[in-house]
Amino acid sequence: MSGSTPRSTKGRIFSGIKPTGDLHLGNYIGALRNWVAMQKDYDCMFCVVDLHAITVWQDPKELLRATREVAAGMVASGIDPVENILFVQSHVAQHAELAWLFNCVARLGWLNRMTQFKDKAGKDREKASAGLYVYPALMAADILLYKGTHVPVGEDQKQHVELTRDIAQKFNNDFGVTLFPLPEPVIQGPGTRIMSLRDGTRKMSKSEPSEFACIYMTDTAEAIRDKIKRATTDPNLLPDSVAGLEGRAEATNLLSIYAALTDRTLEEVVAETKGQQFSQFKATLADTAVAVLGPINAEMKRLMADPAEIDRILKRGADKACDLAVPILKEIYDAVGFLPRT
Ligand code: AMP
Ligand code: TRP
Repeated sequence: MSGSTPRSTKGRIFSGIKPTGDLHLGNYIGALRNWVAMQKDYDCMFCVVDLHAITVWQDPKELLRATREVAAGMVASGIDPVENILFVQSHVAQHAELAWLFNCVARLGWLNRMTQFKDKAGKDREKASAGLYVYPALMAADILLYKGTHVPVGEDQKQHVELTRDIAQKFNNDFGVTLFPLPEPVIQGPGTRIMSLRDGTRKMSKSEPSEFACIYMTDTAEAIRDKIKRATTDPNLLPDSVAGLEGRAEATNLLSIYAALTDRTLEEVVAETKGQQFSQFKATLADTAVAVLGPINAEMKRLMADPAEIDRILKRGADKACDLAVPILKEIYDAVGFLPRT
């Protein structure tokens, strides 16, 4: 590998974020913050997964903008683009090639169980793209193309990582090889599923209808404060134990965000905030969120003003990723029995 020395002490991480609109607090807490914490101990590949983005319609200009913005968000959050491999999925054609093989390994029955497909396709399933349906095979290809061993993601991706394990295992069995590791999902910390600020039963996502539901990493300090102030709560004081959060989805969500942003457990923040009014706690939470996201936001702006620098980072990443992918795909093709091109 060119550039840095791999730190493959505990294994290889692969993870990705789709360039489908602005990054939000769920992406930051559920994914990016954990990546930053893990990057010292693993050999890491972080990918802007544009092939995944187009499983639903994306405006081409917006896709281009969001691709650079997600890369900028990764760097601004603290991902070191020199020590790690940060790249765009479509720059390494082997992802799509391996995805085809895995379409032939994955069983229809497995794909039919994927809850994300059911959610995203909605009622009018006939109109969903075929890509949305086979998306988990592409995700498995992303991870296994580099023999990834650990996949840090939010809770919503657990099922896809489990399917990746099934694909790896079936491939190894079918071809009598031990080519692929069985990658582990790494779903950790108090914020594995950040919920909408307006409705504690809905996941925070880019497609939330209310503009106050989602804190974006590009939000100004005023916008962050305003959204937290307006966040839905209940009429009670904050509880004195985690058990007291039972049936209080909004309170649980806000406390989980606070715990994640201050690197503490839910128990620890409940001990700090017990008996407080929401107004008092929200002021503390807003200060914390602004203190964490403010510098990231400023760094994202600085990077976005220099797209050539982002493109250089991504080119270097794609070159390194390609160097790793080419021999592994060759090994896979040999196992399948494809005639080598001489
Ligand atoms: P996406 O934006 O859907 O490509 O998601 C990128 C990463 O962010 C994945 O690891 C997701 O699991 C994670 N993620 C997205 N939304 C949330 C959320 N509301 N809470 C926690 N993690 C999330
Ligand atoms: N499917 C993930 C999401 O929607 C993004 C993703 C694509 C991914 N490929 C991956 C995550 C590989 C981890 C590993 O959030």
